[in-house]
Amino acid sequence: MGVVAPSEYALPTMSATAQNLEPPVCMYGEILENRQITPVTWVMKIHSPDAAPRMRAGQFVNLLTSEEIVPLLRRPMSIHRVVEHQGVASGFCVLYDVIGPGTRNLHHMKKGERISFIGPLGNAISVPAEARRAVLIAGGVGIGPIKFVAEALQAMGMRDITLCYGARDSDHSVPVKEAAPDGCRVLVCTDDGSVSRKGFVTDLVAEMIAGKRLQPGDYVFTCGPVPMFRAVRDLLGKHGISAEAATEEYMGCGFGVCFGCPLKQRQPDGSVEYKLCCVDGCLFPLETLVFEGDEDVDAQKGDDTGTPA
Ligand SMILES: Cc1cc2nc3c(=O)[nH]c(=O)nc-3n(C[C@H](O)[C@H](O)[C@H](O)COP(=O)(O)OP(=O)(O)OC[C@H]3O[C@@H](n4cnc5c(N)ncnc54)[C@H](O)[C@@H]3O)c2cc1C
Ligand code: FES
Repeated sequence: MGVVAPSEYALPTMSATAQNLEPPVCMYGEILENRQITPVTWVMKIHSPDAAPRMRAGQFVNLLTSEEIVPLLRRPMSIHRVVEHQGVASGFCVLYDVIGPGTRNLHHMKKGERISFIGPLGNAISVPAEARRAVLIAGGVGIGPIKFVAEALQAMGMRDITLCYGARDSDHSVPVKEAAPDGCRVLVCTDDGSVSRKGFVTDLVAEMIAGKRLQPGDYVFTCGPVPMFRAVRDLLGKHGISAEAATEEYMGCGFGVCFGCPLKQRQPDGSVEYKLCCVDGCLFPLETLVFEGDEDVDAQKGDDTGTPA
């Protein structure tokens, strides 16, 4: 319904070119379902047979949450899964926490209403051909992209997939059946122990490494808040394990025009460059990301004069 012809409104992105992905489009979809799965989390299913076949695991959409002027900016959401009708991709879902005006508008939307979105945006997962096993690490609403990623890995023939998922408490813990597809092993912890065991997701990852169930060469995908990224990066780094991180910077346009989503990335020569989350990512090698405060560590490695190393 109300679809804007893709050829007229196709928006080029750098990542689309690099990975040979289809360019995003700006269109309307019809809301088929908008259901609550925890006290703060909802899943919205959107009918969009034109956009759905273009979507790849790891990508996101930018949703217009109101036809009013405020909130002006669209809200980026990972593609939670692509839904099929008679074997053909016909729509997609987003999984979201209600935290502010945009997501409050989203959770008031009803079945049958139309919603404008731009997508698919960003790059897709890139899994090394030799990887035989995968570990997915999610913190909080970083659970959003996991199901699509796990399904894509299964479609590639991967059978040994483990999700390590950490949530704040029972109110924020997404049920396992919503978080991951059948056939994916799921380990859960919460900060307060109200669901499954008490602890942080890095505890689960450390145990996987200790038990040799996660080793260099395995594919690792991670999504969550910056403190979790930093802890996971440091832990995996000690064991020579790489990971692909789905970053979630504040965004404006979502397709490289407003320069509103910068993040820092370490280059092979050691220098640090700004990248745009929306078009250079949102997936980046975790070990290359430089977070707020990391530079201080570098400065401490410098000589006595305080010159950075
Ligand atoms: C690529 C990408 C994928 C995302 N995928 C999901 C998803 O699958 N599910 C989901 O629930 N959310 C996801 N997000 C975050 C989501 O876009 C924001 O939660 C949403 O825009 C908040 O809008 P709001 O108007 O409800 O709240 P706002 O009023 O915009 O924000 C409410 C509070 O959240 C903080 N906040 C908002 N956006 C961010 C952000 N990007 N990073 C850190 N803090 C933020 C604000 O500072 C404020 O304190 C994603 C973000 C990006 C960039
Ligand atoms: S959100 Fe506009 S450049 Fe990234």
